[in-house]
Amino acid sequence: MDKQLNLKNIALIGRTFEEYYNMFDLDDLNGNEIILDVASGVSSFCAQANRQGFNVTASDKIFSLSPYEIEQKCKQDLDMIIKQMPEIADLFVWNNFKNIESLKNQREKAYKLFIEDFRKYGTRRYVPVEYPVTNFGNDQFDISLLSHFLFLYEEHLSYDFHKITILELLRITSKEIRIFPIVNLKGKKSGFIELIMRDKDFGCLQISINRVRYEFMKNGNEMMLIKK
Ligand SMILES: C[S@@+](CC[C@H](N)C(=O)[O-])C[C@H]1O[C@@H](n2cnc3c(N)ncnc32)[C@H](O)[C@@H]1O
Repeated sequence: MDKQLNLKNIALIGRTFEEYYNMFDLDDLNGNEIILDVASGVSSFCAQANRQGFNVTASDKIFSLSPYEIEQKCKQDLDMIIKQMPEIADLFVWNNFKNIESLKNQREKAYKLFIEDFRKYGTRRYVPVEYPVTNFGNDQFDISLLSHFLFLYEEHLSYDFHKITILELLRITSKEIRIFPIVNLKGKKSGFIELIMRDKDFGCLQISINRVRYEFMKNGNEMMLIKK
């Protein structure tokens, strides 16, 4: 059987601004775009990006919980993942992170920056949303970013869930949607990629798969770019 990270549910762990920057090739942004981070969880992207002059709103179903509750849950998830890492270390490329210890330190840095910012700005910046349903307005954002939510969790989230979520994001996003990675938890290209490419409901969109410079999970070095 193929090795993979074993998760009962979608994990509550977060990545940093630098990781998002490289995953989504953000060099082309000029700071004027209104950005939505979809299922942003305990990532520090929103906190760090806003400090650097970007305009980012974060959204996740966990934002209805208190900072304390979120912190307890993400500590548990991080411990559970770090315990599994020695068994599955060969599924990953150890360039950005030298070893499991430095991975753990980065993930802790991310969630601590997030918790600090969440305590400060609350739901003004961190909007509780349970996808696929949102209360955002039509074209409220210019760009939506999805990191480690769709495709990766194809075992947990059906094709219909993927499709309805993307359709909702197309309603609330005026320019484009970027999704990273496009592999599942086994590091294999998600079967939903082809389904989306062939789905006639997405026929009027420009959908491309672009190589990016970030790769932690082996083969996880491509993002899906959907342009309206
Ligand atoms: C692996 S984390 C990714 C966090 C962040 N995007 C990153 O890459 O660092 C996945 C996130 O998806 C969130 N999530 C799962 N199902 C969701 C749903 N239906 N609506 C909103 N958020 C959801 C979880 O709460 C969790 O924070």
